Amino acid sequence: MCGIVGYVGYRDAASVCKDGLMHLEYRGYDSYGIASLSPKLSVFKSVGKISNAKNISSLKGTCAIGHTRWATHGVPSEINAHPLTDCGDKIAVVHNGIIENYAKLKAALIKRGHVFKSETDTEVIPHLIEEKYTGNLLDAVSKILPMLEGSYAILAVAEGENTIVAARKGSPLVLGVGDSEYIFASDAVPLIDYTKNVIYLEDGDIAEVKSDGYKIFNGKKIVKHPISKIEWDASVVRKSGFPHYMLKEIFEQPDVFSNTIQSVKENKEVVALIKKASSITVVACGTSANASMIFSYMMEAVCKIPTRVVVGSEYKYFPTPASSLVIGVSQSGETADTISALKISKDMGAKTIAVTNVLGSSITRTADVVLYTRAGPEVSVAATKSFTAQVAAFIEIVNLVSGKKLEPAVSDILRYLPDVVSADVSSAVELCKNASTLLYVGRGMFYPVAMEGALKMKEISYIHAEGYAAGELKHGPFALLCRETPVAALCLHGATYSVMMSNLKEIKARNAPLVAVGEAGDQDLEDLCDVFIPLPKVSEYAGIILSSVILQIMAYHCAVALGRDVDMPRNLAKSVTVE
Ligand code: F6R
Repeated sequence: MCGIVGYVGYRDAASVCKDGLMHLEYRGYDSYGIASLSPKLSVFKSVGKISNAKNISSLKGTCAIGHTRWATHGVPSEINAHPLTDCGDKIAVVHNGIIENYAKLKAALIKRGHVFKSETDTEVIPHLIEEKYTGNLLDAVSKILPMLEGSYAILAVAEGENTIVAARKGSPLVLGVGDSEYIFASDAVPLIDYTKNVIYLEDGDIAEVKSDGYKIFNGKKIVKHPISKIEWDASVVRKSGFPHYMLKEIFEQPDVFSNTIQSVKENKEVVALIKKASSITVVACGTSANASMIFSYMMEAVCKIPTRVVVGSEYKYFPTPASSLVIGVSQSGETADTISALKISKDMGAKTIAVTNVLGSSITRTADVVLYTRAGPEVSVAATKSFTAQVAAFIEIVNLVSGKKLEPAVSDILRYLPDVVSADVSSAVELCKNASTLLYVGRGMFYPVAMEGALKMKEISYIHAEGYAAGELKHGPFALLCRETPVAALCLHGATYSVMMSNLKEIKARNAPLVAVGEAGDQDLEDLCDVFIPLPKVSEYAGIILSSVILQIMAYHCAVALGRDVDMPRNLAKSVTVE
């Protein structure tokens, strides 16, 4: 959701902010704005895409803050866009998070004569700063923070000081440390063009940054956080000749798979905790929940450890006994529902693990132990390589916990994944792209694969799609089957094959067009379905990754064929920071 960038140094600060905000576009937003000091405070705000911004060149100076807003309090409009300013337009603030007590603060400020321009919760902040400001922004911000309830990452500037003051509580904020230049952002992606040195700010931190240095305080004390190195290169956040980030990220999956396996091998703590667990609860949302469900099948079948999956938003209604190990799975590490589920379980005394792709993200501060999936930044809103990385992590965990039972799966995936990412799915796309409803079916571990395939299809093509356990179709969804409702089926050889074949015959008997992903050379399946997508003969556990990739490519090409905004589907945000 909202993105923040701030720059102070020697470059054209507004352009740095614009470029940085474009790197954060994937977080999802509806309006944007930048404020710069030259030395007068100037603000430009607009609704729509920041790439279309024409007037940013009018903002001069070497110190600026910028924001992309995903509307919560007040409609998407120029007035509600950040930065928001005080009465005199001398102080500007960008904010990510929610100020829960803003209504009370606003009423009191109005009584004291402040005039508000926007409907946002954020606007109370510049007005509060204005009241305390006597020429030292750090001092004023430090005084008003105790009045704010809720979560925030804030950047503030004031006319007359070439300084950014930042504060963090519950919303992500990082500081890039360059050579006589500093850049704040909601995550590390916008920093990469300027520096690989990054500080992950902690809750309660206040930072004062000028072109000649920075100081970070927590409470009244100066704190020295370690400077971490960003592990990936700028090319990771460029399209590098691909038409969309999503396709690029699909093609990155073979490398990601190896990186993730290595990350698990190096993390002895996670495997040790899982080995000791008598039961496991996994909390996650969306794609991460689908990957977690695959994990639960594997844990129960191979390691015999009872493992349940609860979607983050429902966890509070199903809290776990303290004896259960709780694993929070989140690509972004910022998903509010998953983080709050982990907090609840921690409060109840459970041991917690976070599986995340983002170094220093909020979930890493919540859990006792962290496993990084190391897929590299994922820019496209639709999760692809991060899903594969989560499943790769789970396969390797199960492998290590079970004494290498899944080793054949790992070698099959390493061998075949590089070819599978460029499989030809054009006939399947032709068959599906004009449908108004699609059903995806699988059994066992292929059931969550089917759910993930359907999620991918609906979020980027806007075709209604549902994933079902194949055996469930007869309990209702069969009513939908007709010539206009294609079904995509996962029917690889293995434990579920013969009963899947019976289910597919029942589907065909209702005239539904059938796309089947199966094993190359499976003539019975090829004869039964309308479009056959062959995969090499691999172990069942490798089949889940290879067939998931096929469904990603199908969704991608359907969305392209329908002219959708593939990387930034409507209404969605990459990082869902509200419950
Ligand atoms: C789908 C998708 C979302 C996320 C979900 C959880 O492609 O990206 O469903 O998987 O919002 O996000 P994380 O994994 O960041 O917690």
